[in-house]
Amino acid sequence: MPRPRVTVIGAGNVGATAAQRIAEAGLADVVLVDIVEGLPQGKALDLAEAAPVVGHDIRITGTNDYAETAGSDVIVVTSGLARQPGMTRDDLLAKNAGIVRSVVQQAVAHSPGAIIIVVTNPLDAMCHVALEASGFPPERVIGMAGVLDSARFRTFIAQELGVSVTSTHAFVLGGHGDTMVPLPRYSTAGGVPITELLSPERIDALVDRTRNGGAEVVALLKTGSAFYAPAASVTQMVDSIINDRGMILPCAAYLQGEYATQGLYVGVPVELGRKGIQRIIEIELTNEEQQAFERSAAAVRELVDAMERLGTEAPGSRTPEAAPAGG
Ligand code: APR
Repeated sequence: MPRPRVTVIGAGNVGATAAQRIAEAGLADVVLVDIVEGLPQGKALDLAEAAPVVGHDIRITGTNDYAETAGSDVIVVTSGLARQPGMTRDDLLAKNAGIVRSVVQQAVAHSPGAIIIVVTNPLDAMCHVALEASGFPPERVIGMAGVLDSARFRTFIAQELGVSVTSTHAFVLGGHGDTMVPLPRYSTAGGVPITELLSPERIDALVDRTRNGGAEVVALLKTGSAFYAPAASVTQMVDSIINDRGMILPCAAYLQGEYATQGLYVGVPVELGRKGIQRIIEIELTNEEQQAFERSAAAVRELVDAMERLGTEAPGSRTPEAAPAGG
């Protein structure tokens, strides 16, 4: 049986690190794509030359030609620009929407049955672009955000309690941004909710740090943004999909009535398997949590509306009837 195949678009920090992790975990053959000539080829060659030392037989190739990505099972989209000095949020939104639309259209033409994982920011808005550009059904277009956000929350919980990160679990809902909604009562250490282990003040501090997790890394790095934890998060999602593991992971999913939200990508727990999102898991929220969720969804809606205003042709919602059955 041929090995599964994952295309990673964008051979920058997140893309190349994800390619390395996917290969070293033995999950799938990897095709790295970038618009810059030589970059994906060079990184793929370097990664391939690490294989004898690491001890795997995964095939890693780099290309600027989407024909070489044909038949991919998963397409990971990391291509995009980082915000430059003087660039407004809207400029970035329009630029990255253009990039994501173009790479998705080219990639799906060669891999009509793939599952797309979107990583490019602003994440939730880029998911809308990828959904529209691919014509795929929503369960095959998924955003990577919650795995990363909950990993950050888990890191801080473990540090605070002085316990192993592997004994922690964290629950994060909402958009990928300042309005994300970490849920302390569903976040645990050794199965015990952190609300029973930590004071409300300490929990607030950890929640705040989680919300600003991306910005904290950017402030330290000064150039560039986080990529080790984002790449690890992508790899976990690829593992659950390729190996049909059915992990329940927080991901950006297209809601069609769940959590009282219609036609919008927002972070929620989903079951990830070979078909993509196999189930969206709905949990009871308190009034306060539901309000925080709605505020977060409203922030995503604003971005999607801004894209429409900017003429980036990414309609904010589409009716389930209008959604093509997939390719
Ligand atoms: N087609 C293919 N690749 C492209 C295109 C395009 N049209 N436009 C840009 N790229 C490539 C760039 O050449 C670069 O190699 O995307 C890559 C982006 O890499 P980095 O600048 O290193 O950015 P990275 O840190 O990997 O982040 C990528 O993930 O977490 C998010 O916010 C982050 O949106 C950003 C994305």
